[in-house]
Parts: sequence; structure tokens; C-alpha cells
Amino acid sequence: MAYQPFDLTGKVALVTGGNRGIGLGMASALAQAGSDIVIWGSNAERNQAAEAKLLEHGVRVKAQTVDVSQEDQVREGMEEAVAAMGRLDSVIANAGVGYGAPSFIEMKTETYRKTLAVNLDGVFFTFREACRHMAERAKSGDPGGSIVGVASLAAIEGAARNQAYAATKGGVISMMKSVAVEHARYGVRANAILPGWIATDMTQGAQDNPAFAEKVIPRVPARRWGQPADFGGIAVYLASDASSYHSGDTFVIDGAYSIF
Ligand SMILES: NC(=O)c1ccc[n+]([C@@H]2O[C@H](COP(=O)([O-])OP(=O)(O)OC[C@H]3O[C@@H](n4cnc5c(N)ncnc54)[C@H](OP(=O)(O)O)[C@@H]3O)[C@@H](O)[C@H]2O)c1
Repeated sequence: MAYQPFDLTGKVALVTGGNRGIGLGMASALAQAGSDIVIWGSNAERNQAAEAKLLEHGVRVKAQTVDVSQEDQVREGMEEAVAAMGRLDSVIANAGVGYGAPSFIEMKTETYRKTLAVNLDGVFFTFREACRHMAERAKSGDPGGSIVGVASLAAIEGAARNQAYAATKGGVISMMKSVAVEHARYGVRANAILPGWIATDMTQGAQDNPAFAEKVIPRVPARRWGQPADFGGIAVYLASDASSYHSGDTFVIDGAYSIF
């Protein structure tokens, strides 16, 4: 009998920020592995376009306009997703914003607050509602579930001019570890992904900057920008039964940049 834990047929995954970039890369791979998909984004048009692409994989897809910084929207969105899809086996808190500043001393408090609202409050609300659903399900005799936070190398390396962003990403890792320990009894595991330099809308400024192309990308041993599709494998692994004893871990996906 073939080893088939990566067949996700019958499972449902929710990806926040799943309408483009890394989130859409993960959602596409999950759909190709047979998982039904829920995506969240704050922009309805982007959600619709991504929903159409994901439907091409022949799975059930639900796109919801949810601003993850808004507690009520996250709570209602999660309830609506469970009602529509029957269950959520994986929840990937990937939605994020990347506001920096010319320097730390010029970083506005407003920038700090805006970054925390999406990258930390948003992950807190998403993780908590996902845990609520998975713990309740476990108590009714159906344990299991995978919670994933998308952090960043900024969490573990000194990210100049990005103090607010870095703090949120460090917070995602700490929150994930607390969830992993507390919810293991329900068969729920929690992990975090730390992307390196990935070509998405978030990094468009760096992609357009000749100095960045000259000085930073040559320091990536893989010698290229990461792509959203590079996150498909880890998403499928973490959504699958192959990772059922793998919890509390961080996965650096950066073409070996951080160890060079
Ligand atoms: N790209 C990189 O190099 C890199 C490196 C390290 C970590 N990351 C992290 O990876 C994650 C994905 O980033 P990306 O590069 O794919 O960025 P992206 O292309 O800019 O996409 C960001 C996603 O987050 C969603 N989003 C933003 N604010 C939201 C909100 N308030 N509520 C709901 N959804 C929201 C966006 O949807 P809407 O526009 O519809 O709101 C979009 O789907 C982020 O957490 C980011 O910090 C990226």
C-alpha cells in the first residue's frame, strides 16, 4: 500500500491573507493536494479573483472578506467558515503587513500600532478562534488540527528600520509555542514558518531597487528570490497527518540566506 499522508481529501484549510502572495501559494498547493479551502483577505475583489483560481483545482472554496485586525470579524468569519465547510483541520495565520520607516527614531507610533493590529492582534484572534473550534471538536471525540503562524526572519535577525514588524513576528513565534503546549492534549499542533526574501507585493519596493538586487540577492545561496509556490510543500506537510507529532517548531524557508 502506498504511503499517502499528503492526500488531503476530506480536510479543510483556512489561510488568512490567502488571496495573493505566500498565502495564495500555500492555498494553491493545499487545494492541489485535495483539501477544501477557505481564504480570508480584506479586499473583496482580490478574494474573488483568488477564489476563481483555486476552484480550478476541483475542491470546495470559500472566500471571505475578513479584516483580521477586527476581533468580531474574525470570530464571525471563523463561525461562518465552520458552518459552511463543516470543520477546519488547518488554520494558517498568514495575513500580514510590512510597514517600515526610514529609521527607528522616525518610526511613527501610528505605524507601530497599525503593524501590531494586523500582524499580532490578527494572529491572536485567528489562533484563539481556531483553538476554540478545535478544542470543542476534540471534546466531542474528534481530536486533531494544525495551527500555523507565518512569522519572518525578522523575528530572529536584526531587522533594521523594521522594529515594529520584527516585534510582531517574534510575538507570533512565542504565541505559537504557547498554543502548541496548551493544545497538544486535543491533538492540536502549532508551528511557525519564517520566510526569507520572497517576491510578493510586500517586497515590490525591494524588488524594484537596483541596490537590493546588487547587494542582498547575491547573498542568498539559492541565488534567487523565493516564490509563493516555494511555500506549498510546507503548507501541505503541516496540514497532513505526516506532521501529526511535529509541534512547536519553526521552519525557516529562505534559500539558506540566514545561515550564510
Ligand atoms: N514577502 C516576504 O519576503 C516575506 C518575508 C517574511 C515574512 N513574510 C510574511 O508572509 C506573510 C504573507 O506576506 P506576502 O509577502 O505574501 O504579502 P502580500 O503579498 O502583501 O499579501 C498579504 C496578504 O495579507 C492580507 N492582509 C493584509 N492585511 C490584512 C487584514 N487586515 N486582514 C486580512 N487580510 C489582510 C492581504 O489581503 P488583502 O489585501 O485583501 O487584505 C494579502 O492576502 C505576511 O505575514 C508577511 O509578513 C513575507
